[in-house]
Amino acid sequence: MSLPHLKIYNDYNTMSAAAAELILDVVRLKPEAVLCFATGNTPVGTYRELAAKARESGTDFSRCFCIGLDEWLGVPGNKSGSCKYILQEQVFDPLGIKPTQVHLFDGLTNAVEAECEKMNALIDSRGGIDCMLVGIGTNGHIGFNEPGVDSRLKAHEQVLHASTLDSGKHYFNEPTPIKKGITLGLAQVLQAKMVLLLANGVSKSAIIRKTLEGEISPAVPASFIQQHTNAYVLLDKEAAAELTL
Ligand code: GLP
Repeated sequence: MSLPHLKIYNDYNTMSAAAAELILDVVRLKPEAVLCFATGNTPVGTYRELAAKARESGTDFSRCFCIGLDEWLGVPGNKSGSCKYILQEQVFDPLGIKPTQVHLFDGLTNAVEAECEKMNALIDSRGGIDCMLVGIGTNGHIGFNEPGVDSRLKAHEQVLHASTLDSGKHYFNEPTPIKKGITLGLAQVLQAKMVLLLANGVSKSAIIRKTLEGEISPAVPASFIQQHTNAYVLLDKEAAAELTL
């Protein structure tokens, strides 16, 4: 395995600041960059740092284009806990990114296949994703690419695993029925020009070891990141604790 950029930080805040700097560098180099953002607890600090550093440095996000990694099917985007709501609050509003600069999955779509096609076509028409920030589930998922997923897939619908549903319910402030998700596929993760995989905390240490030191297999979807030639894996010490590298 040759992971090009494995970075281990003392704590979550340092990891988050470093991730934010990497995203800023992408936008400084290419102001019209296509950026893809995940939600979840992991990137909260990165998005906070990104907004603060963009303000301090005057980095211009007015020409970039943003897409979302995934969404809960059946959940409206104006509901707190939906990926759309979270990205609006944590990324787009703080960076002054306008609706015309954003394309997200519609969780309320009743034509999932067309919704996926639209996203795939949009990514292709913009020349691919320049920088994709992803987290990792404790079962090794990226986005909603659950164990067993076909790594050749682009955007698709996914029935969610019990552990994903279990952690997912904590993102909502009221009981919300969730069963399926819509997500970019691993093919799009692998095609992104740069991927930032972030993980922090002891609950991620076992899956991080499998992801980076185990065999590349659909059983651990994130393990495909080993095949990426420009992936940055940013960890805090706790998430890196089981690595033997
Ligand atoms: C969720 C999301 C992923 C996210 C992951 C980890 O189910 N679909 O995009 O990266 O799980 O979440 P967290 O960062 O809260 O641990």
